[in-house]
Amino acid sequence: MRVADIIQKMKSLDSKTGGRVGNLVRVLTNVNTRRYWDKKLLSRGNSWRDFPYQYLSEFLPCDENFSLLDVGCALGEGCALLKQRFPEAEISGADFSSVAIEKAGSKFENIEFLVLDIQKQDPPRKYDYVTLVHILEHFNNPFSIVDKCLLFVDKALLIEVPYVESFRDPRLFSFGQHRYLFNERTFSEYNCEVLTITEYISSAGYRYILFKIMP
Ligand SMILES: C[S@@+](CC[C@H](N)C(=O)[O-])C[C@H]1O[C@@H](n2cnc3c(N)ncnc32)[C@H](O)[C@@H]1O
Repeated sequence: MRVADIIQKMKSLDSKTGGRVGNLVRVLTNVNTRRYWDKKLLSRGNSWRDFPYQYLSEFLPCDENFSLLDVGCALGEGCALLKQRFPEAEISGADFSSVAIEKAGSKFENIEFLVLDIQKQDPPRKYDYVTLVHILEHFNNPFSIVDKCLLFVDKALLIEVPYVESFRDPRLFSFGQHRYLFNERTFSEYNCEVLTITEYISSAGYRYILFKIMP
């Protein structure tokens, strides 16, 4: 049986069981473990990327000092980009990959880095801004992460994820990393503003959507 046929079969079983089969499959096929990310980030040497943070940085205030926690910071280059653009800001980065945090900490001295599994642990304190940059699409249930982060935000939670204009079901059956699809309506139940939807980014293979959610 081809993978496409298996996925089709799973989708049909999912709708017949009110989502139960799908939830089980999603848990069993989720590659986004700490081990997976440790290995992936170790294989990247000392650098991963910072370009997604350019979009986000447009929406942070230039005229005020602020504290910011970036959850899912990987090797820290995104935090470094923010620190460069906002030198007075207190920037922190968190990731559940200790490999990533060790590397990030050894590269950037003026940024605090901490090991944190946002599914299982709470951030250590409140921040003006919490950012989730290309991490939410990796969770089976992004809303539980959003709800938790909102408890640790004073001003706003900023989210950047791939944008998919329309879909029947946002929950993906996939052996890949992405588990969830996002568009303008994803956070309509929250106090949410869509900040922008970018042009197609060929290096990423997507457009990006940026959300601002107020606590
Ligand atoms: C696609 S990378 C994005 C990295 C960076 N934000 C960027 O956009 O370049 C996803 C990151 O989320 C981290 N991550 C995944 N699950 C996590 C969790 N439960 N708690 C904290 N970090 C997590 C991974 O280790 C990885 O560094």
